Amino acid sequence: MTRSLSLLACTLTTFVNGATPAPTFHKDVEPILQNRCQGCHRPGEAAPIAFLSYNEVRPWAKAIRGAVLTGKMPPWQADPRHGKFVNDLSLGPGEKETIIAWIDAGAHEGNPADAPKPRAWVEGWRIPKPDVVFEMPEEFSVPANGVINYQYIPVPTHFTEDKWVELMEVRPSDRGVVHHAIVVTDNGSGFRGQEYLAGYAPGMAPQMWKPGQARLIKAGSNLVFQMHYTTNGKPARDRTKIGMIFSKKPPAQQIVAMQAAAHWLQIPPGDANYRLDASTTMRENVELVGMRAHMHLRGKSMIFRAVYPNGESEILLDVPKYDFNWQPYYYLETPKALPRGTRIDVSAVFDNSVNNPFNPNPAATVFWGPQSWDEMMIGWFDVAVNAGSTIGHALYGAPVELH
Ligand code: HEC
Repeated sequence: MTRSLSLLACTLTTFVNGATPAPTFHKDVEPILQNRCQGCHRPGEAAPIAFLSYNEVRPWAKAIRGAVLTGKMPPWQADPRHGKFVNDLSLGPGEKETIIAWIDAGAHEGNPADAPKPRAWVEGWRIPKPDVVFEMPEEFSVPANGVINYQYIPVPTHFTEDKWVELMEVRPSDRGVVHHAIVVTDNGSGFRGQEYLAGYAPGMAPQMWKPGQARLIKAGSNLVFQMHYTTNGKPARDRTKIGMIFSKKPPAQQIVAMQAAAHWLQIPPGDANYRLDASTTMRENVELVGMRAHMHLRGKSMIFRAVYPNGESEILLDVPKYDFNWQPYYYLETPKALPRGTRIDVSAVFDNSVNNPFNPNPAATVFWGPQSWDEMMIGWFDVAVNAGSTIGHALYGAPVELH
């Protein structure tokens, strides 16, 4: 009854105005903001403005219009023609139009009774409440100016048994000075004893695997926080932490980090289209679960391709307009089987010309290095293997380079 009445009311309005009624905040726009924006646009998260209520959103209506129209927001760089990703931030069909129509019609609040239930966010985390949190032992003081070498800060786990971790999040306490943070496990057996665990970089959301997938932390391992701090004119202090949620039952699959990287890079001065390729071949059957493009300020685009043993190939991920400020992992909706012998080819293009507004020095020949004015070319990817199989970096080609 109520339904047919409101349907009638709706038809009537349409009839009177000759158009569908203007969208309102609570009914039409708030659900979109909950799903697509609030993950970052709430206190303590990456975005400087909160979009939790009408009063918070209204003053930004004009800016939202611009950001949504240009595609700047939500930030998502993957070409939609290749791959479907679970963490896709882009707006769904009709959502952009709804936001624009709402703003153009005056950005009205509408009836609060139409509002969706507020989303339950865990304060201080993007993952559910962690089972355990490891912090840097003390705050790191970042001076106002200058260049800071990478810091490698060991944190013991005191784990007395192997642990499977199904969700993790790395969180700086001051994002303003943390360019990136990478946490690796170190089981004490030298470089190859280190394994990538989780990271923080702008635009990077906590990893999303399928149920039954987890990373392994060996008993007695240390964590090493690799911290890249950048100065921003004001002295600051940071104490980054990692939260972990353990698997409730033994996982079926282990997640292992792999990469294809061009360490030999040497980019000539002024070159606006310098291409680099790197490959890694699978030495056993694996399932690809996610990919991440990593370059510095001259990075322009990156493509991941699979070349299968039967000679067929396909594009797995295309990031046509790489943005140094957004380096998410792209998690596949459906993991992709990569039979033994499959080659992952990663191609990157760099712009070392004056046309690149981020280029720190177009006159320089650029080499591999950790700082932003150096370059890197790494196609990271996560694969899932049977949790029972013997895992070591040696199985996976290049060991994982930390940076
Ligand atoms: C992955 C995190 C993230 C998501 C998701 C996100 N934003 Fe943002 N947003 C940011 C960050 C960080 C900034 C500030 C830095 C910047 O402007 O790039 C920002 C800035 C903005 C600004 C400021 C103006 C501007 O153009 O710089 C607007 C408006 C905005 N976002 C709208 C939105 C809307 C609307 C959505 C959802 C449809 C959204 N954002 C989703 C992270 C995000």
